[in-house]
Amino acid sequence: MGRVSRVEGLLARMTLVEKLGQLTMSSAGFTVTGPVIAGDSTEAIRRGEVGNLLNLVGGEPVRALQRVAVEESRLGIPLLLAFDVVHGHRTLFPVPLAEAGALDAELWARTARAAAVEAAADGIAMTFAPMLDVARDPRWGRGVEGPGEDPMLASRFAAAKVEGFQGGDLTRDDALAAVAKHYCAYGAVTAGRDYASVDVSERTLREVYLPPFDAALGAGVAAVMPAFTDLAGVPLTAHRGLLRDRLRRRLGFEGVIVTDYHAIAELIVHGVAADLAEAAALALEAGVDIDMMSGAFRHGLPLALERGRVDLQTIDAAVRRVLTLKERLGLFADPYRRGKAALPAAVRARHRALAREAACRSLVLLKNDREVLPFGPTLRRLAVVGPLADAPLEMAGPWPGAGADDAPVSVIAGLRAALPAVQIHCAAGVPIGTPAQAVAAECAGPPDYPAAADSAPPPESDLAAALGLCESADAVVLCVGEAARMSGEAASRGALDLPGSQREFAEAVCRRAAARGVPVIVVLFSGRPLAVPWLVQAADAVLAAWFPGSEAGAAIADVLCGRVGPSARTAITWPRAVGQVPLFFGERPSGRPANRDDPYTSKYLDFPVAPLFPFGHGLTYGRFRYTGLRANRERIEEHESLEVSVDLVNEGAHAAEETVFLFTHPRTSSVSRPILELKAFAKVALAAGASGTVTLRLAGADLRTLGADLEPQFEPGAVDLLVGPCADREQLHVLGLIKERAGR
Ligand code: GLC
Repeated sequence: MGRVSRVEGLLARMTLVEKLGQLTMSSAGFTVTGPVIAGDSTEAIRRGEVGNLLNLVGGEPVRALQRVAVEESRLGIPLLLAFDVVHGHRTLFPVPLAEAGALDAELWARTARAAAVEAAADGIAMTFAPMLDVARDPRWGRGVEGPGEDPMLASRFAAAKVEGFQGGDLTRDDALAAVAKHYCAYGAVTAGRDYASVDVSERTLREVYLPPFDAALGAGVAAVMPAFTDLAGVPLTAHRGLLRDRLRRRLGFEGVIVTDYHAIAELIVHGVAADLAEAAALALEAGVDIDMMSGAFRHGLPLALERGRVDLQTIDAAVRRVLTLKERLGLFADPYRRGKAALPAAVRARHRALAREAACRSLVLLKNDREVLPFGPTLRRLAVVGPLADAPLEMAGPWPGAGADDAPVSVIAGLRAALPAVQIHCAAGVPIGTPAQAVAAECAGPPDYPAAADSAPPPESDLAAALGLCESADAVVLCVGEAARMSGEAASRGALDLPGSQREFAEAVCRRAAARGVPVIVVLFSGRPLAVPWLVQAADAVLAAWFPGSEAGAAIADVLCGRVGPSARTAITWPRAVGQVPLFFGERPSGRPANRDDPYTSKYLDFPVAPLFPFGHGLTYGRFRYTGLRANRERIEEHESLEVSVDLVNEGAHAAEETVFLFTHPRTSSVSRPILELKAFAKVALAAGASGTVTLRLAGADLRTLGADLEPQFEPGAVDLLVGPCADREQLHVLGLIKERAGR
């Protein structure tokens, strides 16, 4: 049967209950990803009342329920199985915020492809990824799941991940339907509090939050998930303007719109629906196809039909899109095509090697004073201390996929494997603790939530042991930071420092090491930038590891020992203090830019304006000198393009890979433009002492802006091209360019 005739044939035979079943997705309980827990859906599947499942993993359990749907329900429509394969499935890759810093679209696609192969082998056909929410507020926990603060980088990330997950042909046995989430502007929640209201200008929406989703659509993403949040009072789950009018009608998106967990029912709590039937009607009319876990379509739409609030044509349109996606996934042709066989060991081994490569390329060297890294040949005794030194499960990050079959490699395990001849001793010193413990004094009162199970106070012996190790080591590796669940969903923080009593411990370690002239290398684990200027000051070197995944310890050892040079950059600005937030490089200029010598300028009385580390910061083991910035044209029309080149010399003692960024800023424009706009990036690997040239391409179309009427325009005038290693203007080399109308 052809795709259209099969779908239309089914539609003509389906009862209302069976139609609403195809618009329903229920959780199967392999893991819990939301506040409402579903029971066993087997009977509902048999009756055709549930046509889609999330959180069911494993070839056997998937086949068992697929068999119920295909062989025991009246119409035999196969189930769609979905899961959060965010940064790996069984083999875990670095969290997206870390991997974004690799600035390597080919790598992003490869890790997504590997994750898809593993998830499909477990019977999964859809992943709730990539998460594409631009994030500029580190208090919000979900920045860890996304590509950082910049829309251009996020857009490149979006396209690569969609291509990786979907593999170019959804009928492949190892293809996953990707879901671009959470549409949109979820990263701009009030005060960084998860699920809180969002209110951004239409201009910011179009310039910052929508571009990654448009890039995902351009790459053929199969589905979109609206955010839990409202946008200026209209919840995205019922946003006709952004779903029906923009996605469907203006952009012609024919894929599936699947809600977030229980989101339709929460329209009642948003205050825009009186009951479940009204909530269901609002979501359906806005363009939603699948109701995840609220039961609103299944139980509310019959009443909405009776009330005349919806019509059957709209329901049929949604069912048609869901059945069409199942057809595109090849589920009708072979419902059991995914999950037939376990992956060969050689494939898993290749994925572990990729996880190690990706982790190495996602570690950001923030500081390396006196070039204490990489470790030298004279290293004999190494102290590895801190609560994250031997914490393999924490390395997985907040979306650990199906749970790695074998636990991730811890820091201590990685270092012992890499340095067999070195005496390595390890002690945690203190527990990770909780965020509340770190701020209890400031808050002077119980937090608004039941106290997390605070870790037990450190056993005196372990604290003394850890500090004692610093007395006899040649170097100290201090592993501190957040636990995996202190970022991700429902994990906002009001402060950005180390949890628990880690600060006191870290200060004690640094004091003892400094007294002996012994270097301290901090390995910092977190799902967000942390405001730890005191730690950066006290340590000799700081490596931001984020959550590196299955091969965490091996990759960290590779970089600390110099087997691999650090090359990653931070994809998000690091504030000095939470009071500076939101702090990002793409801010529009003030009429009174900060000037320490002029009181009447945009700054604080008590904090610097500059970040701890700017977007794009990341050291290598090389030292690069930039010269000869030039372009192959001085003027550009909209349809033209140009190449910007810069020469680099690696004056360091080690080979290294440098990333060069191209930013722009028009000297004048009808609407004030951000201080810097990222337009391109490129890399060059140079041996010690070697020279090379980096060339970056810029199309005239990349210089279009949104006019006062929010319509795209190509405004003539002078533009600065700024080239350099990060979004710090003092480190950028500037070249002028003239934009001119065609035919001038
Ligand atoms: C969660 C998250 C979403 C995830 C979904 C299914 O609440 O918001 O990102 O994909 O539910 O687990």
